[in-house]
Amino acid sequence: MEEKISQIQKEYLEKIGKAQNLKELDVIFLELFGKNGIINALSAEFPKLPKEELPEIGPLFNKIKKELETAIEKKREAIREVGYKKLETEKLVLQGDALQLKKRQGHFHPVTQFEKETIDLFEKLGFIQFEAPHIDTDENNFGLLNIPEGHPARDLWDTLYIDSKLLLRTHTSNGQVRAMRKYGVPLRIMIIDRCFRYENLDARHEHTFEQFELVYIDKGVSMANLQYLSEYFFKALLGQDIQARLRPKYFPFVEPGAGVDSECIFCKGKGCKVCGGIGWLELAGAGMIHPTVLKNGGIDPNIYSGIAWGFGPLRMAMLKYGVEDIRKFLSGDLKFLTK
Ligand code: PHE
Repeated sequence: MEEKISQIQKEYLEKIGKAQNLKELDVIFLELFGKNGIINALSAEFPKLPKEELPEIGPLFNKIKKELETAIEKKREAIREVGYKKLETEKLVLQGDALQLKKRQGHFHPVTQFEKETIDLFEKLGFIQFEAPHIDTDENNFGLLNIPEGHPARDLWDTLYIDSKLLLRTHTSNGQVRAMRKYGVPLRIMIIDRCFRYENLDARHEHTFEQFELVYIDKGVSMANLQYLSEYFFKALLGQDIQARLRPKYFPFVEPGAGVDSECIFCKGKGCKVCGGIGWLELAGAGMIHPTVLKNGGIDPNIYSGIAWGFGPLRMAMLKYGVEDIRKFLSGDLKFLTK
């Protein structure tokens, strides 16, 4: 028995010494001290031993048991120590490259990008940006634009009223008379901003949308300038080969009034699904500023004449970027915005 115990002692001290990690040590520990381990098996043999051997074997057994236990404990600590040392010297690099994270680059909203291009384009021609309020009086939105109270033309705009006098502006034209009063003539301004209408929402109609208003007043300004500037805009933003076309259209604040169409950029005028077979797409309302509106702005219509446009930047951005639903722009959908 004594020999057996020493044999186990030798064998296991060696095993413990060679163990590389905590897992191996756990296995050794169970082999020795587990329920069916060597130690239990040995103590089960004690009752069979001759009585005189017990006083010697008992303490020896306990000593070796303790020795093995301590050896395992010490080795555990040693292994942990190595691990801690490693942690101290190793650096944890949390930069994108090391973690192979995909870098995400922010950018302007597609509409903002489109509008910045538009602004650059007209700044080159001497137009300055002008701001008018989103919440305005019906006087600025309609009255001063030759649409007095009760005039049936007010029905052309599905207006969101706040009370009997205040409304959410239906177009950027609410800045026309303001700009005339502020700067006088000659005048070249642009307003590019949000407008609101009580719309039936669909792929081409949104309650909150953008308008781009151009106002140009000087001596001798005519429809020829309107044609030229419309074409300048379409060619620069939609393609060099795109033509502009003016059609008669009624707006109370212009005379004559025009719908400004661009040649359909998809079929180049031949007629397709997007333009409904017409070959042209309506992108703006425009015209010669009505004498009454010039007078409201303090400008003499006998000396000066002016032109104005209201473009739909969202519709134009839809064409430019091939977006099939206007509601996507305000959806905040990152999948769409980062495409
Ligand atoms: N304000 C008009 C609209 O929203 C468009 C327009 C602007 C028409 C300027 C003529 C002149 O429908």
